[in-house]
Amino acid sequence: MALLEVDQLRTVFPAAVGEFAAVDGVSFSLDQGEVLGLVGESGSGKSVTAFSLMRLVSPPGDIAGGSIRFDGQELLALDDRAMRRIRGRQMSMIFQEPLSSLNPLHSIGRQVMEPLFLHTDLSRAEARKRALAMLDRVCIPDASRRFDDYPHQLSGGLRQRVMIAIALVCEPKLLIADEPTTALDVTIQAQILDLLRELQRDTRMAMLMITHDLGVVAEVADRVNVMYAGRIVETAPVATLFKAPAHPYSAGLMRSRPDLTQERKRLVTIPGTVPAPHQMPSGCRFAPRCAFADRDCQAAQPGLRHLAPDHFAACIYPLTQDA
Ligand SMILES: Nc1ncnc2c1ncn2[C@@H]1O[C@H](COP(=O)(O)OP(=O)(O)OP(=O)(O)O)[C@@H](O)[C@H]1O
Ligand code: SF4
Ligand SMILES: [Mg+2]
Repeated sequence: MALLEVDQLRTVFPAAVGEFAAVDGVSFSLDQGEVLGLVGESGSGKSVTAFSLMRLVSPPGDIAGGSIRFDGQELLALDDRAMRRIRGRQMSMIFQEPLSSLNPLHSIGRQVMEPLFLHTDLSRAEARKRALAMLDRVCIPDASRRFDDYPHQLSGGLRQRVMIAIALVCEPKLLIADEPTTALDVTIQAQILDLLRELQRDTRMAMLMITHDLGVVAEVADRVNVMYAGRIVETAPVATLFKAPAHPYSAGLMRSRPDLTQERKRLVTIPGTVPAPHQMPSGCRFAPRCAFADRDCQAAQPGLRHLAPDHFAACIYPLTQDA
């Protein structure tokens, strides 16, 4: 059984007329120890998916349907108290901007101890010891001296390490990382990614790595979901997606990757923009931007089709059937 099974998840926000689904029928699963990438352009619904999994969508946003089974439990059936016992203990999340996620009024040491006070019955001294070990583990230099520092006294990279320490101190089974390195400069990004990958391997936790950076996906993920306009349009092992993307949107994303050997060439971008929520095409949502679209594409929304083991694409004319 998979650790996480998401089925037909639908999360809506009120719109000028009625509501719109930022996440619209998303299904995927994630095994223990697996790293799943979630990629897609800005506004495709990656963060709303993450917040939905954590049951942290704030009103008037609402999870309107579907199922999230985590470790054998249906999360959508739990009351808030039961959900609080899981969040930070069994599943944790780290965000793009560590400064706004850390409490400016509490020392970093206290913030790493907090999940331990909430979820374990460790004494204060034991919690302090565990928190210190965790700060060491995420490579905060001289952690015992830094323990009583406040977030503003740390660099962006160190703050993100503290966020990781808070997320992992209770040894969760699942870590959701939403653009964890986007706000950092390139060298620091690489260090944080290395750290996450190392921690993931050591602990065998599952990780959902959300990013718009295909380089990040290539480096850390086993498998990738490509998201477009609230839906998953392709899911494939990383190597397959890079070698033989089947959905025209994924193929476009691949072509738009900056190629380091061709710095001077103009970057290829996918023409057009993601459709506005109130102007969703009734058939394939990518049709207005797709070079292969015909009338059949506009007739109905294509569902995910099985192309090969572990490889699915929501396109009626997939570019590849896998060799
Ligand atoms: N609190 C909210 N209220 C209303 N609409 C929202 C809210 N949060 C997200 N949305 C809308 O839901 C859609 C998906 O947003 P989401 O933040 O999930 O995108 P994303 O894929 O994470 O993009 P990015 O790469 O920019 O982080 C967008 O159209 C966004 O405007
Ligand atoms: S279904 Fe048609 S419009 Fe949609 S991606 Fe495939 S070819 Fe393009
Ligand atoms: Mg986002």
